Amino acid sequence: MKSTAIAHPNIAFIKYWGNLNQDLRLPVNGSFSMNLEGLATKTQVIFREDLSEDILILNEKEEDGAGLARVSQILDEVRAASGIQLKAEVVSENNFPTGAGIASSAAAFAALALAASKAAGLDLDEAALSVLARHGSGSASRSVPGGFVEWQMGEDDKSSYAFSIAPAEHWDLADCVAVVSTGHKETGSTQGHPLADTSPLQAARVADAARRIEICRNAILERDFEAFASIAEADSDLMHAVMMTSNPALFYWKPATLRVMDSVRNWRAAGIPVFYTIDAGPNVHVITYREKMAEVSKMLKELEGVSDVLTATVGGAAHWVE
Ligand code: PMV
Repeated sequence: MKSTAIAHPNIAFIKYWGNLNQDLRLPVNGSFSMNLEGLATKTQVIFREDLSEDILILNEKEEDGAGLARVSQILDEVRAASGIQLKAEVVSENNFPTGAGIASSAAAFAALALAASKAAGLDLDEAALSVLARHGSGSASRSVPGGFVEWQMGEDDKSSYAFSIAPAEHWDLADCVAVVSTGHKETGSTQGHPLADTSPLQAARVADAARRIEICRNAILERDFEAFASIAEADSDLMHAVMMTSNPALFYWKPATLRVMDSVRNWRAAGIPVFYTIDAGPNVHVITYREKMAEVSKMLKELEGVSDVLTATVGGAAHWVE
């Protein structure tokens, strides 16, 4: 009746933006990511006889409202599949700061899917766990498998899951997250996805997705940094073009975001292996080789407007610890 799991957040290189089905979080396009080692969410789930409602304790603070409702929805699925009727206590902790541009929901729902299903005595395979995590947050489907991960859009609920295309050891990369703002909460992705279709650019972004996915997959498998860099930057720019032209517009970049993007392009032109990718916020993920991580972090810290740099290497799969 009790289980604890750990999962890593991930950074997407081919982005997921927009759903075919909002409730099931069925995406309009496939996506690619790598897990981030060193950053983790640890979640314990206990089904308890004495509870009349589910409880969520996140970073030592009890949560209610939308956060708890999303967690209860996953617990309801697990209860339905296992026949358990008990309510659960969920205690979750991140070892990375919130507001640092690392999507915590991916790690959170991957760890929850694993811990809750195990606590209920279910023995789900990786694809079924990825589907369950996806119901909480689309990108969480990609935090279930390890290393370099593809989320195939699929045709229905069951076939839309993520799998590893290469283990973490395949390529010694690192992510240096240039934090330019920890300020007010941006429009979150759950509110953002339904706006994607209001941009006239979304149709073009989606129509070309299969081509970008193919290029990205080959670049990762062949460890071709140049090809990887240019497709990932193009994909991130395309997603932000859609965001900026949505109605209402989602404009996540700050002046320092552009300063980092510009510097990264210049550094690459000068022979330093770096590229940028940006999620639904102003902070910039700068990808490089692991051996360059310290050097690139230092260069980023020297840029005006960069308040901090978080670093991570390539992470493994979500796993049970108890
Ligand atoms: O899983 P969500 O609903 O938080 O959406 C993630 C959206 C992006 O981070 C912007 C892109 C991605 O593929 O991770």
